[in-house]
Amino acid sequence: MPETVLVTGGAGYIGSHACVALLEAGYRVVALDNLSNSKREAIARIEEIAGASLVFEQVDLLDRAGLEALFRNHAPNAVIHFAGLKAVGESTEQPLRYWQNNVGGSAVLLDVMRRSGVRKLVFSSSCTVYGAPETLPLTEEAPLQTVNPYGRTKLAVEEMLRDLHASEPGWNISILRYFNPVGAHPSGMIGEDPLGIPNNLMPFITQVAVGQRERLSVFGGDYPTRDGTCIRDYIHVLDLVDGHLKALQWLEGKPGIGAHNLGTGQGQTVLEVVKGFERATGVSIPYDIVERRPGDAPAVFADPALARRELGWSAELGIDAMCADAWNWQQKNPSGY
Ligand code: NAD
Ligand code: UFG
Repeated sequence: MPETVLVTGGAGYIGSHACVALLEAGYRVVALDNLSNSKREAIARIEEIAGASLVFEQVDLLDRAGLEALFRNHAPNAVIHFAGLKAVGESTEQPLRYWQNNVGGSAVLLDVMRRSGVRKLVFSSSCTVYGAPETLPLTEEAPLQTVNPYGRTKLAVEEMLRDLHASEPGWNISILRYFNPVGAHPSGMIGEDPLGIPNNLMPFITQVAVGQRERLSVFGGDYPTRDGTCIRDYIHVLDLVDGHLKALQWLEGKPGIGAHNLGTGQGQTVLEVVKGFERATGVSIPYDIVERRPGDAPAVFADPALARRELGWSAELGIDAMCADAWNWQQKNPSGY
């Protein structure tokens, strides 16, 4: 029997790409999502791309009875846990909602897992757990410090996982700290579909390119970087999900618990991303340099050496592929799903 993987947040941006990769690798996939930030259409598209079907359950992580029934009915062997709320600004306005959903939802999931005897987990963390870093590139040894409620919920779940692992033998847990996931499946059938005005750079750029927004505001031109704009480590979502498949294999070696950075190790400035997009797509992006956005660190990029060494993973795709695939998705789906 092939392994059955439960993907929480399976209709979301990264989860949908992970479902495709898992189906293509021969796993049975059970996707769970409450559709609070995604559309059911994503599930149909996953199946179309992969040429295989999955089980979809519209269940909220906070619905313990629903989750228990899902574990009883589908008996997953492992869980990849993407489900969560992720907007930094919103988390400062609605902190309790973030704590309840992200931390509370994870606590219910972990409890149902242990009662069902499932002790293999890959968790979506974020480089936000490093806060505003003092030394670059960031290794997993860097001090953990968070600067907003969203980041604190990610760190809290990491701590919960470390406590759980220490308290009970048999858990094998991979914590993956993502840098900046961008891009889309090359088919253009699934991709990032933000509600309302995008907070993140790449969806904003593609919406300008498609004519939905007039100009990009570049937040800050006076940072101590090579062109004055912030540096981030953008990573193609296909490379990112490949890291999850490698992490699942790593868990087979019963490593206990470990955290890995998933980034390319190459930082790009905001203006370099704009130029990269123009080069990859031939579409020009009008922009204005405006005030800094509060809370932005000047530069954040990964040292991905540990993931290379322990997971046998490294990112392959560069900024041109990230931009071309994001644009292909946006063009084929100008208003999202
Ligand atoms: P997303 O919003 O597209 O996907 C998350 C999915 O989880 C959504 O489909 C949403 O409906 C679902 N969900 C939320 N709360 C739920 C609940 N209580 N029960 C069931 N479903 C629920 O986000 P994404 O970009 O795919 O991110 C996936 C994970 O990766 C998140 O945990 C996020 O914090 C983390 N992450 C994302 C980024 C990024 O830039 N995209 C960076 C670092 C970490
Ligand atoms: N930026 C602009 N204009 C925009 C949007 C963004 O100039 O319209 C700039 C930002 O100032 C930043 C860079 O583009 O310098 C990247 O911004 P994003 O919002 O795309 O990404 P962040 O690095 O700020 O944050 C993202 C997620 C967080 C997550 C973090 C680390 O939004 O949830 O990556 O994983 F915590």
